[in-house]
Amino acid sequence: MCGIVGYIGPKKALPILMNSLGRLEYRGYDSSGIAVLANGVPESVLTVVKEKGKLSRLRDKLQRQELNGFAGIGHTRWATHGEPSERNAHPHLDCTRKIALVHNGIIENYAELKSRLSAKGHRFQSDTDTEVAVHLVEHHCAEGLKSGKKDGVLGAFQKAVSEMEGFFAFVLLSVYEPGAIYVFKRSNPLVIGIGDGENFVASDAPAVLSYTNRMIYLDDNEFARVTAKAVEVRRADTLALVRKAVTRISWTISQAEKAGFPHFMLKEIHEQPQVVETILKEKLRAGKIWFDSIDQRVESRLKKIEKIHLVSCGTAYHAGLVANYMIGECARLPVEATVSSEFRYEDPIVGPKDLVILITQSGETADTLAALREAKLKGAFTLGIVNVVGSTIARESDCVIYTHAGPEIGVASTKAYLAQLLTLALFSIYIGKVRGQLSPGQMREYIRWLQKLPGQVRETLAQQSRIKQCARLLFEKKNFLYLGRGFNFPTALEGALKLKEITYSHAHGYPAGEMKHGPIALIDSNQPVICLSPASKTYDKMVSNIQEIRARQGIIVSVATRGDAEMEKISRATFFIPRTLEIFSPILTVIPLQLFAYFVAVLNKRDVDQPRNLAKSVTVE
Ligand code: AGP
Ligand code: GLU
Repeated sequence: MCGIVGYIGPKKALPILMNSLGRLEYRGYDSSGIAVLANGVPESVLTVVKEKGKLSRLRDKLQRQELNGFAGIGHTRWATHGEPSERNAHPHLDCTRKIALVHNGIIENYAELKSRLSAKGHRFQSDTDTEVAVHLVEHHCAEGLKSGKKDGVLGAFQKAVSEMEGFFAFVLLSVYEPGAIYVFKRSNPLVIGIGDGENFVASDAPAVLSYTNRMIYLDDNEFARVTAKAVEVRRADTLALVRKAVTRISWTISQAEKAGFPHFMLKEIHEQPQVVETILKEKLRAGKIWFDSIDQRVESRLKKIEKIHLVSCGTAYHAGLVANYMIGECARLPVEATVSSEFRYEDPIVGPKDLVILITQSGETADTLAALREAKLKGAFTLGIVNVVGSTIARESDCVIYTHAGPEIGVASTKAYLAQLLTLALFSIYIGKVRGQLSPGQMREYIRWLQKLPGQVRETLAQQSRIKQCARLLFEKKNFLYLGRGFNFPTALEGALKLKEITYSHAHGYPAGEMKHGPIALIDSNQPVICLSPASKTYDKMVSNIQEIRARQGIIVSVATRGDAEMEKISRATFFIPRTLEIFSPILTVIPLQLFAYFVAVLNKRDVDQPRNLAKSVTVE
């Protein structure tokens, strides 16, 4: 997500815009920009200044300009389409430079709109999806003027929005109506700050909290016309006026940055349903799995692959281990998951018939970057599964699939991991299909269960208070064992890593079948054992492992499929996930483990978002 701000009133807009953007820096971004409207003769003048990198670079650039406008909009960008650069930064202008627009979200059908508008003579300055929006508004403004209709900017904006698919929050400024800022919201947040004789717009309350604590929260498919003295909210379909309550928020700025959550990590755990929705919207269309970076050339290369290597670090390595099972099930191809720091030094046996998949949230992890370069040197085809657009690994991979989890602030990865799992599941099914391993019936079955995931993630999250209760029971323990089998063996590793990272207690993930080969010596009445036991082909084996632990008075905490009374009976605590296919179960089973680690850390008064000794991206060996 990015940061959006707007101001209209009697004061100079620029300092307010820059201060407000500064309040949104915590959300993560890669570039920024502002547009300011100043009085001019015969018409107002729109000035746009943009810069790649941190806000400080934009500030430096602005020192050299005198912008006295009374209305303005600003943006900090988290790139999804078009790498981070000055020309891809927002605001974007139409051909006449009379309309400026900023955007948060993704315009799914931007490609077809862009080719249609280009055919009508529109000239694009960027590679972003966003730019199509401002040219669409320009097109409808021109059509309105031609037909003599007095729809004005709002009418043109409404027509433009009706042609776009996806998630978005837009803020628009134009010389046609210099006294008004127009906004539109669908899925991505937008809030209007109510001042005295001035008004503010923002993607998030912290941006404007130092000016006002009176907010109007827009709902989906609502427009607003914001002037210095009034705010009119209208339905997108009929443009009928909508009465909106003004909410007075009592949060401090720090609370507001976390949307009221005590930590970014908890906020990001709860963003997971929307992350799953965004990915499915972007990659699962009309019953087909679609990656905008995989064209015919790439597809024919993938068809000839004889082995797949999954290379990554930390949590991303656990995603690679899950993908090991996913690709095995869907594509029946030899597949191997390795940690980057091993792969890069083992003189890996890879060549042109190998696909090396680099999984990385940051796209900057040193070992994974080195592994990528090693794989390319040996002629392998490289695919990046990356969250940060335009990152080094994204740029250097032969092909990249973005996970669109949005910026992840908490050092311990949660939503980015879930996004990796879902993206890898979609890729596994895709590669199975193109290689003729999956029948249409199997495809339909996978897609049917994929579509249930957003609701199932929500349902799993709803157990938060039970999980917190269990954390209260166990937070003073200093040793935890996590056990899983098959698809959920990597979940045991990930659950253990989450706990280690943020509670500093020792936690060990193990394949449950290995219990008898050593770990069972750990079991006594003081030993918590978290058992991943959803419905699966090895469920019965898992139950026997749990019986072995029970026989030695171990403290059993299970993650099971909803309705599993047997598991609940033999466990001290049981967290449930909805029924799903085994291949998708790691996407759900990890959620209770994220929450469990979080609450144990909070009870141990740890620095949850910035745990000691850890960095969000390990850019050194
Ligand atoms: C995740 O909780 C950890 N903070 C860490 O292991 C991380 O997954 C690892 O450093 C890989 O980072 P990347 O995904 O950005 O490459
Ligand atoms: N999809 C738009 C872009 O890539 C907006 C990204 C954002 O939300 O910052 O420019």
